[in-house]
Amino acid sequence: MTSRDLHRDSLFIRSCYREPVERTPVWVMRQAGRYLPEYREVRAKSSFLELCKTPELAAEVTMQPIRRFGLDAAIIFSDILVPVEAMGIPLDFNPGPILSKKVSTAEDVAQLKLPDPLTDMSYVPGAIRAFTSAMPEVPLIGFAGAPFTLAAYVIEGGGSKNFAETKKFLFQQPKVARELLAKLTDTVSAHLWAQVDAGCCAVQIFDSWAGQLSRDDYMDFALPYTIEIIERLKVKNVPVILFAKGVHACLPELARTGAHVLGIDWTLPLDVAVARTEGKVALQGNLDPCELLGPVERIERQVQRVLTEAKDAPGHIFNLGHGILPMTSPDHMGAFVEAVKRLGIRRGAPATEEAVR
Ligand code: CP3
Repeated sequence: MTSRDLHRDSLFIRSCYREPVERTPVWVMRQAGRYLPEYREVRAKSSFLELCKTPELAAEVTMQPIRRFGLDAAIIFSDILVPVEAMGIPLDFNPGPILSKKVSTAEDVAQLKLPDPLTDMSYVPGAIRAFTSAMPEVPLIGFAGAPFTLAAYVIEGGGSKNFAETKKFLFQQPKVARELLAKLTDTVSAHLWAQVDAGCCAVQIFDSWAGQLSRDDYMDFALPYTIEIIERLKVKNVPVILFAKGVHACLPELARTGAHVLGIDWTLPLDVAVARTEGKVALQGNLDPCELLGPVERIERQVQRVLTEAKDAPGHIFNLGHGILPMTSPDHMGAFVEAVKRLGIRRGAPATEEAVR
């Protein structure tokens, strides 16, 4: 039995496909990480990249939040920049990413390799297999960065406040930019395929910086490449979650990309997102990660608010609106997960025979 079949009836996968569920499922972006003392313990002995490249360690830290909180899905421990390193750009973290070679010319783009996920990034499928054999009962999500967000990192050489270098590149050398985006599309598609083949039963595409673009530029330089990846994933028959952070202006277009689920950040109430996506997709989100820094009574109230705002969504996967912050208390994360499990709602119960008659 493939892991896709094994998890087909889980709350998480049924919610992705907008099918009836007994309660709202919950997982959290960056759920494995520095807010957990057990993560810091493993991390004290290895660098972040060593963790990513050692399947046993990556699988271990992927399991940590599952053991502690009993979440409804795990996300494989890695980073969106792992494939960029495999393309030939040296990568380091301190703690944010540092790329020591910036892409700025057509030659730079031509030199980028198209990595083979099974040889150049074999540790990712390795970590997935290690996780699924240790926790076969937990649905595992694979992921990748969207081409625009990855392009922004390789052009800027790291993070940025306003992405001016990236936009200058797009506007001054659109043809070269499109070659870069096409290469990233090929790399990301192959990387996601390999993760599904290794045992992931869903994938998430992170377009973390897409909200920096105007509506027109998002439609021009980001959306077509994301659509192409989703198109190529169709043969794998797994749900695709698209998290294009801050791209509220294009929600109707995002709902037509073929993604099964849209991740929504906390600045847009889910009832508004439901209206703008016309019930075509399930939604994931969207508590402000900073809410977990507040008192537990407030966390419960905010969980209830999000559940109420999501009540008309055809599917809802509870999550934060972005990654959990390192300063979060694990107790507050625990209270959050417990509140979702207790207050989470039954959705789309099938009509009883009597009602059908
Ligand atoms: O639990 C999970 O969600 C899986 C692991 C995961 C990491 N990064 C681990 C990580 C995932 C899904 C990512 C994705 C990622 N990486 C994104 C997209 C999500 C988002 O936040 O928008 C982005 C933009 C990156 C790039 C990146 N990696 C940054 C900006 C940073 C530094 C900021 C920070 O939080 O420290 C990283 C490092 C990183 N990635 C860490 C972890 C656990 C911290 C490394 C450490 O242990 O020192």
